[in-house]
Amino acid sequence: MARIAYVNGRYVPQAEAFVHIEDRGYQFADAVYEVWALFGGRLADLDGHLRRLARSLSELDIPQPMTDAALLTVLRETVRRSGVRDGLLYLQVSRGQAPRDHVIPDRPLRPSVVVTVKPVDLAALDAKARHGARVVTARDNRWGRCDIKTVGLLPNVLAKTKARRAGAAEVWFVDADGRITEGGSTNAWIIDQNGVLRTRGNEANILRGITRDRVFDLAAELQLTVECRPFTLEEAQSAREAFFTAASAFVTPVTEIDGVEVAGGRPGPIALRLRELYLERARAEAV
Ligand code: PDD
Repeated sequence: MARIAYVNGRYVPQAEAFVHIEDRGYQFADAVYEVWALFGGRLADLDGHLRRLARSLSELDIPQPMTDAALLTVLRETVRRSGVRDGLLYLQVSRGQAPRDHVIPDRPLRPSVVVTVKPVDLAALDAKARHGARVVTARDNRWGRCDIKTVGLLPNVLAKTKARRAGAAEVWFVDADGRITEGGSTNAWIIDQNGVLRTRGNEANILRGITRDRVFDLAAELQLTVECRPFTLEEAQSAREAFFTAASAFVTPVTEIDGVEVAGGRPGPIALRLRELYLERARAEAV
């Protein structure tokens, strides 16, 4: 399958896809990104990700590189040329290119736009989810604006690598008060001993996941009580169920946290139901 990228106005084979060495995304992580799940070549949760992209750009005062309609054309064309049906689409927008200087130039820069697509084996992902995921925790040492989806992901990269080497699928970050914030690239959830679905609220230093938003809606449909209330590692370990959410993981049940079995070491029924419903809706509504 052709690995095609979109780079600043051109569709090129990935082997020939480059940005300038003085791109501020490369030099300062002065860039934001989005990841969409693709079902049958169509984008899931399109509007939610577009809205968050606009917010990330505006928080950093990076101009919108093009209209949403033009961007959608680019995203779709990259998918079409890649021939990917089920997979992930990555979009990165950096502030642009300028001689290296920490201070953002006064003159307007042209944001760099990169789009890549990769296939995902949904059956394999599903088999993994049905098995359940192991999680380990790590001290949250990230900056204070994790609500902006920037490419400055080194703490996440290091923590996720450590987790993977310890045989875990994901890392959950713990804040200075001993409470879970979120995963290295996912949002963290539990169903506590009272049957309440809990995750961190928007006031916490977390990314407001688009999949998380969808789970709020699905939980309401299932008449589950939802509280945006922090939980500790011990609460997570003794929860009825635990799971994490992301465009790349949908809803993935957690069966072990820091070596302690959760939900009897088997994926919880509510997490599995939320996963099923999420996939059903996301597929049906993908555009
Ligand atoms: N990550 N928290 C963090 C730190 C994330 O990086 C992500 C997504 C999420 C979940 O957000 P959403 O539901 O909108 O995907 C939460 C993407 C998938 C990534 O970095 O590849």
